[in-house]
Amino acid sequence: MKVCMTHRETFYHLLSAVFNAYNKQPVIAELGVLRGENALRLYNALNPEKMVLIDSWSPAANDAYSPFDQLPPWVEAIDTYAYYYGGSMYDMATWDNLYQECLSKFADKENVTVIRAETIDAIPDIQPRTGIEKFDLVYIDANHQYEYILRDLMYYQDLVAEDGFMLLNDCCHSPNGTKQNLGVLEALGSFLKRSDFVPVAVTNTDWSDVILVRKNSVMLQLVDIAITNSDIPFVEIPHQLMSAARVVYGAHRTNISFA
Ligand SMILES: C[S@@+](CC[C@H](N)C(=O)[O-])C[C@H]1O[C@@H](n2cnc3c(N)ncnc32)[C@H](O)[C@@H]1O
Repeated sequence: MKVCMTHRETFYHLLSAVFNAYNKQPVIAELGVLRGENALRLYNALNPEKMVLIDSWSPAANDAYSPFDQLPPWVEAIDTYAYYYGGSMYDMATWDNLYQECLSKFADKENVTVIRAETIDAIPDIQPRTGIEKFDLVYIDANHQYEYILRDLMYYQDLVAEDGFMLLNDCCHSPNGTKQNLGVLEALGSFLKRSDFVPVAVTNTDWSDVILVRKNSVMLQLVDIAITNSDIPFVEIPHQLMSAARVVYGAHRTNISFA
């Protein structure tokens, strides 16, 4: 696994080059879309044949934030992040505005389908609404709590083509992540033991992005070759160390430590 000194958008361009080399216009999805900013970056970088955007855009997503009536002291109240969402996350109008913002970004893109539903409830709608049987890339960034990420990984792996990818956002253990009760890295650790996916690359950043691919896929070698021959600085480590990753904040920059 390559720990790459880069950001998630570089990964999109890298995967685009890999799909091009493979002569494939990818079919892609994003789970957890918010206002569609990252979805548009994915769309522009990967030029997909089809794209599906899935988000509940609902205050019900707050219910899963913590199982406890009283938040533990290391977890911040959910509305601490209202600035990021453009209003209170308990207010339906905030979610309706985000949904409309997203729709307006993709209004002229006929190959994009937007499904307003919980990630798992959306699954039976995908094929009838889009004709898609399998995705070449699924970007997972919906509910970030352990059980939910694990559930997204477990269900959506079956919708990923044999040589397809999953990308996981916010896959880190960091002081800032702890304040949001993130369980993404821990869910990945469990998923890797239950599946034939392996992490092939991770960004050396807070809110890290991880590329996952099946261990017997030809894409494992192709991504490896693409990164090796790119100008992205990286350090190679055994992928089994992924669960040990921890973000450390220095005076000048953030790094990932596996020690
Ligand atoms: C961090 S935001 C996504 C940000 C976006 N991917 C980006 O990078 O710009 C998380 C989104 O996931 C959605 N979400 C949370 N839980 C969900 C669930 N169970 N099903 C569907 N969407 C969910 C929220 O509505 C929110 O818009």
